[in-house]
Amino acid sequence: MPLVPMRLLLDHAAEHDYGLAAFNVNNMEQIQAIMEAADETESPVIVQASRGAREYSQDNYLRHLMLAAAELYPRIPIAMHQDHGNSPETCKSAIENGFTSVMMDGSLLEDGKTPADFDYNVKVTRAVVETAHARGVTVEGELGCLGSLETGTGDKEDGHGAEGSLSRDQLLTDPDEAERFVQETGVDALAVAIGTSHGAYKFTRKPDGEVLAMDRIEEIHRRLPNCHLVMHGSSSVPQELQDIINAHGGQIRQTWGVPVEEIQRGIKSGVRKVNVDTDNRLAITGAIRKVLHEDPEKFDPRQYLKPARAAMKEVCIDRMKAFGQAGNAGKIKCVGTESFVSYYATV
Ligand code: G3H
Ligand code: 13P
Ligand code: ZN
Repeated sequence: MPLVPMRLLLDHAAEHDYGLAAFNVNNMEQIQAIMEAADETESPVIVQASRGAREYSQDNYLRHLMLAAAELYPRIPIAMHQDHGNSPETCKSAIENGFTSVMMDGSLLEDGKTPADFDYNVKVTRAVVETAHARGVTVEGELGCLGSLETGTGDKEDGHGAEGSLSRDQLLTDPDEAERFVQETGVDALAVAIGTSHGAYKFTRKPDGEVLAMDRIEEIHRRLPNCHLVMHGSSSVPQELQDIINAHGGQIRQTWGVPVEEIQRGIKSGVRKVNVDTDNRLAITGAIRKVLHEDPEKFDPRQYLKPARAAMKEVCIDRMKAFGQAGNAGKIKCVGTESFVSYYATV
């Protein structure tokens, strides 16, 4: 089974009204957790790697791990996606390394922290669309800067994201611009800014419409009913995962994420890809802390990596069921990127 273009999965999700979690990976155990969850729930999956993840794990290891996943789970359609590509060069190197989908995040300049203007964003995103579509590879763009509507600051918890203060206009995707952006770039999917941010510290209280602008998604979907929308920073930061970490020597300040029911509302309005990394990080860290805290004499990494992998698998299963991708793996006819070359040539 080849790795499939992400567009194949997004189109199926749109046709059948569900969303797909896109889980970030950095190592073998995370890939195993996702694949075990996908196998158990019969879910198609999007596995994504940030630039930092590619550097940490190295492209060769990552490529072979993904090919191993495809070989081990022939029933599961798997798309491999570059998360937050900062330049056309990053996206090109991802494609050369077997990624079947790339994100050109032109909402920021190449430094990954300075907000870019609309024209720059269109220029770099369109360039990536030309390169990627010629190879049947999917492209996600981003318009608007991720960041907090509560504090008016950009999102830099994970080392990338806008620095300093941002206006409400910069923190919310403009529906007029979204229409122009999709038209002028030809992207397959559009990531929107609605007040979510990466990492654990998204909201200081359970978010309402003031700080989590789901109505913006509804408006953009009304304007662009055929465009697949993407929610970044969409971990839910469950209380129980915070509690497990804190009960075993960790220090997570009280925080709130994006409630699953808000994501489900988004899925009703065109959200097809939902990015989740932090929840898995919390689950892994909580499980490892628990083992080492309760049994400080343990030192075989398998003794804490197994529970860590199991804890991440549980999060993945929960999201796969909640977003509706569960049960859909066998309904998708898998094809590789080459089948999409002619598709893009005709649209
Ligand atoms: O884009 C945010 C993801 O959580 C990846 O984070 O850049 O630390 O790998 P990272
Ligand atoms: P979280 O930090 O909310 O998991 O978001 C991940 C993400 O958007 C990756 O691009
Ligand atoms: Zn993101």
